[in-house]
Amino acid sequence: MLNTSKESYLNLVEWLNFHSYQYYVLDNPMVSDAQYDDSYQTLLTIEKNKPNWLVNNSPSQRVGDQPLSAFKSVTHVVAMYSLDNAFNDEDLTAFLNRIEKSPAKQASLVISAEPKMDGLAINIRYEKGVLVQATTRGDGKIGEDVTDNIKTIHSVPLVLKGNDFPNVLEVRGEVFMSKSAFSKLNKRQLNNNDKPFANPRNAAAGTLRQLDSKVVSQRHLSLYLYGWGEISNDWEMPNSYSETLDCFAKFGLPLNPESQKVAGLKGIFSYYEKLAKKRTDLPYEIDGIVYKLDNIGLQQQLGFTAKSPRWAIARKFPAEEVWTDLLAIDVQVGRTGAITPVARLEPVLVGGVMVANATLHNMDEIIRKDVRVGDKVIIRRAGDVIPEVVEPVLNLRPDNRQLFIMPTHCPECNSEIIKEQDKAAYRCMGGLFCPAQRKRALQHFVSRKAFDIVGLGHKLIDQLVDVKLVNHPDDFFKLTEEKLVNLERMAEKSASKIVKSIQASKQTSFARFIYSLGIPEVGEVTAANLAQYFKTLDTLKSVEIEQLIKVEDVGHIVAEHVVKFFQQPHNLEVINSLVSQGVIWETPVDRVIDDDSPFANKVIVLTGTLTSMARTDAKKRLEFLGAKITGSVSAKTDILIAGEKAGSKKSKAEQLGVTMLTEAEWLTMMEKD
Ligand code: IVH
Repeated sequence: MLNTSKESYLNLVEWLNFHSYQYYVLDNPMVSDAQYDDSYQTLLTIEKNKPNWLVNNSPSQRVGDQPLSAFKSVTHVVAMYSLDNAFNDEDLTAFLNRIEKSPAKQASLVISAEPKMDGLAINIRYEKGVLVQATTRGDGKIGEDVTDNIKTIHSVPLVLKGNDFPNVLEVRGEVFMSKSAFSKLNKRQLNNNDKPFANPRNAAAGTLRQLDSKVVSQRHLSLYLYGWGEISNDWEMPNSYSETLDCFAKFGLPLNPESQKVAGLKGIFSYYEKLAKKRTDLPYEIDGIVYKLDNIGLQQQLGFTAKSPRWAIARKFPAEEVWTDLLAIDVQVGRTGAITPVARLEPVLVGGVMVANATLHNMDEIIRKDVRVGDKVIIRRAGDVIPEVVEPVLNLRPDNRQLFIMPTHCPECNSEIIKEQDKAAYRCMGGLFCPAQRKRALQHFVSRKAFDIVGLGHKLIDQLVDVKLVNHPDDFFKLTEEKLVNLERMAEKSASKIVKSIQASKQTSFARFIYSLGIPEVGEVTAANLAQYFKTLDTLKSVEIEQLIKVEDVGHIVAEHVVKFFQQPHNLEVINSLVSQGVIWETPVDRVIDDDSPFANKVIVLTGTLTSMARTDAKKRLEFLGAKITGSVSAKTDILIAGEKAGSKKSKAEQLGVTMLTEAEWLTMMEKD
C-alpha cells in the first residue's frame, strides 16, 4: 500500500468521485457501500502518508478540519430573488395571461415545471471549475458563507466535470434534508436528549447554521439546482432554462429528476395533478411546484418586480390534512390567566411534522366546530403554521358522545374560572396565587405605579421565582440581604438596596395597593376611584356588584372581576399576608373641592414637556384641586397647560380659543391658590 504511486492515488480519487456521482447524483450505484468505504479508507491512509499528494477534489476534502467561530457575510454578485405565489388555478391562469395575451400562443408557451423543495436557497460559486464559495440567500443581497457545510453534500462536485464550463459559474438551488435523513437525525436527537426538529426544513436550516462541518456531514443534507447567478461571458449561454440545466448536468451538478418541460396551461395543470399524487411518495418534502418560462430571451423581456421574477411562479399545495383521534381536551393557563383549550391527539404526521397537540383557541371555536372528546378529527397544517383541528368526522361519531364542558376551576391553582362577559375568553381568577400567572403578577406588583420597588427587574424576578424564594407578592417582604446575596450575580450592595426599597414600599396608598393586585381591567385610575369610594380594604373585600357600578369608571365587567377576585380564598390569603407583613396606608380622606380654585371642575389638557415635575405628578396635583384631566383638546377643554415643545395640541387649542397657560404661569397660579 505504502508504495503506491501518485498516479494510482489520483486514479483512486477519480474512482471514488465516479461512484459517488453514480450514487448521489444519478441515484444509480454501481458498487456496494462496503466496497466504496474500503476504498475510501485506503485513500485516507495514502493521504496521511503522502500529504503533499492531496488534491482539492479528493472526497476527504468534504469535511473541514476546524469548526468556524462565525460565518462571514458575503454580498451576492447577482441578487437572489424570491418567488411569487399562486394558491389556485385562477392565479396560474392570470400568470400565463400576463406573459402572453393571445390564447393561441399561450397554449404553446414552453414552461419548465419542477417541485418546490422545502429547504433553503443557496448560491455555489465555481471558479475555473473549482468550488470556491457557497453562500446562503440571507436577505437576498447579503448571505452567509457556508462553504464548508455545502462541501459535505456528496452530490455537490468539488470540481466540475469536463472542461467546457465558464470561468466563473454561480449555480443556485435548494439545500434540503430528505425524509429519511430527517427521521434518522431526530432519532439521534432523542437518544442524546436533544430537542427533535419540528420538520425537515427546520432541520436543514439548523444544520446549515452549524459551525462544525463534521456535525453537518453526519446529518446528510441534499441539494438540487434550479438556477444561476453570475456566469462569465467566456461561455455561450443556451437560449433556454432547460438547456442551461442540461449543461449543468454535464458538469456533474445535481438536478431534480422530476423537472419537466410542459406546454401552456394544460401542461401546467396536468403536471400539478401528477406531482400532487406523487407527493407523499417523494423522498423529500415539497410544498408546491415552481413554473418557469423556459425561454431566456422572454424571461429577460419580462424582468423582475422588487421581490420576484415575472417569468416564474410557485403554485403552493393546499395544506395537508390527516385524520386522527381526539384523546382529550385540556386547558392551558396563560400568563394573564386566559384559558386556552388544547386538543390532545393520537400523534400523527401532518405535512412532515409529528402532531400530538393542537390549539382549539377558545370555547366558541369548540362549539362552532362541535368537536368532542373521542371524535375522529381532521388535522391540518399549512407551511409553518401551527396545526389546527379542522372539524370532526361526524359520520363516525356514536350517538352518546358528551359535549366538552369548560372546567370550573383552574388546573394550575384551583381558583375559579369565569367567562368574561361579551367575550369568548375564560379566565382564571387566582391572579395573585396562580403559578401560571406568577411571574407577570409579581412584575406588576413591583412596578412603578404599584409598590414601586426599585432594583427588582424582570430577570431578578424570574430568578427569585425559579429558586422558589418568591411565589406570591407577600414573599417579597420576607426577603433578607442574606437570601439575596446567595443568588447568582448579586452584589451585597445591590442586595441591601433592594431590601431597603422593599421595606420602604410597605408604606403605600390604598389606591396603589388595589392597583398592585393586578385585578383584570383594574388600572391605575379605576384603582384610585375604588380606593376613594370604599375607603377600607374590608369594605372592598365584601362589596357587591350593585355597589361597585356606582363608582366612576366601573362597569359590569370590571365589577364582576373585582367581586370574583376577592372571592378566591387563595387571593385573600395573599392579601392578608401582605397586611400582616406590615403593608400599610392611610385611609383616603374625602376630597373637599374648593370651588374657588381656578382649576376646580375645569377640563384640563397637559401637553409638551414639563420641567418642574413629572406629568403624572402634575396630573395628581390638578386632580386634587378638582380638575378633570383629559388627553385631547376639544371644544370641552377649558385650559391647556403647555410645556416645552408643545405641538399639535397647542395649535388646536389656539384654533378653538382655549385658555392657555405656560408651565410657569400655571405654577404661579397654584402657589397663589
Ligand atoms: S427559483 C428567481 N425553484 O423557494 C427565482 N426556488 O419561495 C428564485 N425553492 O427562495 C427561486 N424550490 O428557496 C426556485 N424549484 C425551485 C425551488 C425554489 C424551492 C425555494 C427557494 C426560493 C423560495 C421562494
